[in-house]
Amino acid sequence: MNFFNSAYEGTPPWDIGRPQKEFIQLAENGEISGRVLDAGCGTGENALYLAHLGFEVWGIDAAPSAIKKAKEKAKERGITVNFLVSGALKLQLLQNKFDTVIDCGLFHVFSDEERPIFAASLSSALHPGGKYFMLCFSEHEPRSYGPRRVTQAKIWAAFSKGWKINYIREAVLETTFGSEGVKAWLSSISRL
Ligand SMILES: C[S@@+](CC[C@H](N)C(=O)[O-])C[C@H]1O[C@@H](n2cnc3c(N)ncnc32)[C@H](O)[C@@H]1O
Repeated sequence: MNFFNSAYEGTPPWDIGRPQKEFIQLAENGEISGRVLDAGCGTGENALYLAHLGFEVWGIDAAPSAIKKAKEKAKERGITVNFLVSGALKLQLLQNKFDTVIDCGLFHVFSDEERPIFAASLSSALHPGGKYFMLCFSEHEPRSYGPRRVTQAKIWAAFSKGWKINYIREAVLETTFGSEGVKAWLSSISRL
């Protein structure tokens, strides 16, 4: 976690200063609903975007430096988001349930051992029928930098019990490295 906390002393490559196009598209398609949690929200651009549209949004991140920046942005922009320093592997500590959880670049940082813990944690924070939208690096991204890649098979494996995978689509995760972004998967997964 020190890696992430230190990264936010500067501007890390995933912190693009605007919402990701894939989440804008989800909102415009009407796929986001109800109370929203942004898990691993970083400095909060996706959370702030959804709150600006009128959703009640919480954003959690384990890096205090990220949450500090997110809170400053919310204040400057006059947008209300409940930003908290909290761990995504223990979402039950939030003692709250959400209709939608978004994840931009969180799942792909977890180890194989952490993935089932995260799935259980996520389940504790979603109402039955609630949806989890995950954007992660895909194995088709050829450049050497970035987190380890996630295959569709690994997504199916992580959400095999207690979940319904609605779709896994080819997507783009925007970064500060270049305008084309990186090859990603966008998954829509419902809690049963
Ligand atoms: C690649 S960054 C993406 C941040 C943000 N979603 C965005 O798109 O700008 C991954 C984020 O996950 C956070 N993170 C990593 N492990 C976490 C954990 N166990 N609990 C909560 N946040 C975590 C990091 O601090 C970091 O902000």
